Amino acid sequence: MTDIKKSGNFLVSKEELEKQTEYSELVKTVISSRFSTENPKAFVHTYGCQGNVSDGERIKGMLEEMGYEFTDDVSQADLVLYNTCAIREHAEDRVFGNIGALKQYKKAKPHMIIALCGCMMQQQHIADRIYKSFPYVNLLFGTHVIHKLPELLYRVLCTKKRVFDITDSDGVIAEGLPVHRDGRFKAWLPIMYGCNNFCSYCIVPYVRGRERSRDFDTIVNEAKHLVAQGYKEITLLGQNVNSYNRDKGSEYNFPALLRAINAIEGDFIIRFMTSHPKDCTTELLDTMAQCDKVAKHLHLPVQSGNDKVLEEMNRKYTREKYLSLIRYAYKLMPELSITSDIIVGFPGEQYDEFKDTLSLIDEVKYTSLYTFIFSPRKGTKAYSMPDPVSREEKGRWFKELTDLQEQIAGRRTAGMKDKVYRVLCEEKAKAEGVLSGRTEGNIIIEFCGNENLIGSFVNVKVTECRTWIVRGEMC
Ligand code: SAH
Ligand code: SF4
Ligand code: F3S
Repeated sequence: MTDIKKSGNFLVSKEELEKQTEYSELVKTVISSRFSTENPKAFVHTYGCQGNVSDGERIKGMLEEMGYEFTDDVSQADLVLYNTCAIREHAEDRVFGNIGALKQYKKAKPHMIIALCGCMMQQQHIADRIYKSFPYVNLLFGTHVIHKLPELLYRVLCTKKRVFDITDSDGVIAEGLPVHRDGRFKAWLPIMYGCNNFCSYCIVPYVRGRERSRDFDTIVNEAKHLVAQGYKEITLLGQNVNSYNRDKGSEYNFPALLRAINAIEGDFIIRFMTSHPKDCTTELLDTMAQCDKVAKHLHLPVQSGNDKVLEEMNRKYTREKYLSLIRYAYKLMPELSITSDIIVGFPGEQYDEFKDTLSLIDEVKYTSLYTFIFSPRKGTKAYSMPDPVSREEKGRWFKELTDLQEQIAGRRTAGMKDKVYRVLCEEKAKAEGVLSGRTEGNIIIEFCGNENLIGSFVNVKVTECRTWIVRGEMC
């Protein structure tokens, strides 16, 4: 695998993709003979991050090509597929609960195919447990063989045997898979896969393989295509977008990609996530400031405000380096909205160290935070680190953190009063005649308007500020 990595070529071969297209046709023939009156229905549910949601859209694209329609009702489904996440224990517990609940559906409908995929399934101990404890699961596949879904499904349909494939590898890139996009005007655009960072608490590098970047022109062309189709918001995805193309040693880095997409003609905005602080450069911040289509929102997960904890997390930056980036960013873009991820109660973290996270939050003035209590992940370094602080104690710290962030967010949104923001209208709000959208800074804003505005940009003047959302009037 090392040689492949050096050459930057993780591409699945044309022959392999053609073979899968043939399998796709075979599946279509088999199911059309079994379902003569109407098309079979698939229930597909994705957990986890946007990267996984984007995989889910490719999985749905392949299923659609094989002749499946989609349903939101499990009891109506001929195929149920859970695309899972392994980031925290809670995420896995929920999946186990849901698989258990499928037993009754399978009993009522014995031909129902039950399939599992995604990060959680890429772990051997999970696949083993599913194999033993859930005999009605027909198909299980990992993150490196998504493009083989037609072949795997064909084997399930024709052999009636259980098919489990969690081939481990450094990872691949399968270009040209069909995509069934869930959104009409917001699109996910993966630019890279995998992660090389091995933060000591994190399972992602083990279940997603090594960092591999998609071809620059392929991404720009996909973005052009999306704009031509009427998409108004494109979110570039990767676990660490700042290291885009480093695996290939190419000068076409992430800022260059942002500039190239920004140059596409049309009225749309560009978002991206996630940025790792260790690779976040002043060049990236300068580029954000210069590119009018790039949303002035930076999701820059800090995880902790204490240098000792950061080192044990293997994050490879210090509090000061992080804060200096933030100061530079605010100087360039005073209106910038910054968000972050925080882990509370990393093994061995002391209350005094946690207080450094509180003071950092107070200094940065984040718009919002995604906060998590540390969850031990089997196979990671932090899994076996001594963790003496009780769950209750961590819960108290967690509350202190979220209370502080609530005050900060409230003050930030209060500062939006009477200002005008450009907003992408997204959906109808709960109240009659009210629409909901997001500002560039990713703050939810509600205003009265006709639903035919959904999917377009409008200017809204803020009249009322709550902690997490604001209200306004179109102008
Ligand atoms: N690549 C991104 C993070 C992706 S995972 C980055 O490095 O910023 C999303 C978030 O989940 C992480 O930022 C972290 O805050 C949280 N997370 C990951 N592993 C975790 C664990 N074992 N316990 C608790 N939170 C975790
Ligand atoms: Fe996990 Fe760290 Fe990679 Fe993010 S950068 S996915 S936290 S290992
Ligand atoms: Fe979860 Fe995998 Fe994403 S572990 S957060 S779905 S990369």
